[in-house]
Amino acid sequence: MTTEPWWKESVVYQIYPRSFNDSNGDGIGDIPGIIEKLDYLSTLGVDVIWLSPIYDSPNDDNGYDIRNYQAIMHEFGTMADFDELLEKAHAKGLKIVMDLVVNHTSDEHAWFMEAKQSKNSPKRDYYIWREGRNGAQPNNWASNFSGPAWEYDEQTDMYYLHLFSKKQPDLNWENPELRQDVYKMMKWWLDKGVAGFRMDVINLISKDQSFPDGELAEGEVYASPMPMTANGPRIHEFLREMNEQVLSQYDILTVGEMPGVDVEEVKRYTAAERNELHMVFHFEHMGLGDGPEGKWSALSWKLTELKKIMSKWQYGLEQEGWNSLYWNNHDQPRVVSRFGDDKTYRERSAKMLATCLHGMKGTPYIYQGEEIGMTNVAFSSIAEYEDIESINWYNEKRKQGVPEEELLQSIHARGRDNARTPMQWDDTLHAGFTKGTPWLAVNPNYKEINVKQALEQPNSIFYYYKQLIALRKTEETLVHGAYGLLLPEDEAVYAYTRKFNEDVLLVVCNFTAEEQRRNFNAELGERQARVIVSNLEQEEAQLLDEVVLAPYEAFIYRLQSS
Ligand code: NOJ
Repeated sequence: MTTEPWWKESVVYQIYPRSFNDSNGDGIGDIPGIIEKLDYLSTLGVDVIWLSPIYDSPNDDNGYDIRNYQAIMHEFGTMADFDELLEKAHAKGLKIVMDLVVNHTSDEHAWFMEAKQSKNSPKRDYYIWREGRNGAQPNNWASNFSGPAWEYDEQTDMYYLHLFSKKQPDLNWENPELRQDVYKMMKWWLDKGVAGFRMDVINLISKDQSFPDGELAEGEVYASPMPMTANGPRIHEFLREMNEQVLSQYDILTVGEMPGVDVEEVKRYTAAERNELHMVFHFEHMGLGDGPEGKWSALSWKLTELKKIMSKWQYGLEQEGWNSLYWNNHDQPRVVSRFGDDKTYRERSAKMLATCLHGMKGTPYIYQGEEIGMTNVAFSSIAEYEDIESINWYNEKRKQGVPEEELLQSIHARGRDNARTPMQWDDTLHAGFTKGTPWLAVNPNYKEINVKQALEQPNSIFYYYKQLIALRKTEETLVHGAYGLLLPEDEAVYAYTRKFNEDVLLVVCNFTAEEQRRNFNAELGERQARVIVSNLEQEEAQLLDEVVLAPYEAFIYRLQSS
């Protein structure tokens, strides 16, 4: 392999600790539970674990509301447990990347508790306070979790900004002392030996200081603040400062979660010479099929649109920057339910989707359970859901008279709890996740879909992921090869090449439940091919002038030189 940074050659596995593995029977996943599963992750072959927040938190938003950045959430264990996790992970060659949530804290964080005491409190300016306007909130911004983005504070007769829940006040990055405190905290974790950060909504930290009103959508009372908060005036300055003072001092991975970015903007965040971040999670492909109410009014989607989006990013960051590759995470529905077939062809389509993503250029991220083809869940009542975003939206819409059935359907398709049902380890009660009562019910399909079964079947989705992960270690072309889209107008087959020096790989994925026949001669010439990986365990490549693809078939071929 070349001497490129390690994060370009790595595969990351995301753990949502609350739902991963409960070791003490309280129904909530924990750090000792993660330690128990390190062997499992080693077997899979990933290099890096990204932990969703494990910090002390009142859990208004499951840990994305942090009360103390340097303490562990008590349900998850202790700092000693964390140190043990780090040590044991390192012993197995696994790195640990932390979630960094610094757009906001919990309203129970000591800084906020002090800030709200009085207008003169030394920490007052760590947050964003404004006077009301005509007896109402300072501007018309909406919170991302429904309702207004400002909360009135009686004691000081002012409003504070919260782009998420009212228990998640936004930090004021204009304040240099706040920035220094954040950097100090980051160094503290890095000095412990963590291998980097996934930075929560990091492109929202610099706000337009005039706090202008947003444009109101028809029938809405509050406006999306996204245009005024994403990629704000000082964002690059802040990230460069963070890079100079913290990130550049360590050999780490950094990935910024960034709603509302395009390719040009992401180049500015990730081009090596700009010294900001290594890569970004954009949401363009996650927004596929969004309707007038965004994800809640999801419509059907087209493969040509998916290809267009993925290809735009593949080409766009070919020279500058680097892609992160993901199909789902703790905020998104399960990919096999969304872009595959979670019924008849669940296994095959899950492998096809894995081939399609892991064949691309960038750093792949696997979300817990994806490697066994976990699916969406459809609880029958809102009472069974836990996600604040879904619940707030549901309540708001119910007040407007929208029928329950309709709302539940949207939540079934796109709600965040699809990803958060507990990890399915085996076919015993609660899928072996807990001996107690799980904080969120297990998906009822755990008897058929679980790790135990996957490990027992040599041709399971799990072993297919393992194969793809291993290929990244041996196939330089998979890491460094340039991407080239074939058949852009095809609504059934996603095909592309990866080229590195003279080497050419061909990735072909059938996204339908029907057989497909394609001829690649026109684009690739008459060439022999060899199978690198196939979700139907084919060993012989077919001639490129008539490739026959079974439903959801996928493969990667190496083309012989012509
Ligand atoms: C993005 C996180 O992924 C999500 O889970 C969280 O609710 C928001 N940021 C707010 O922190």
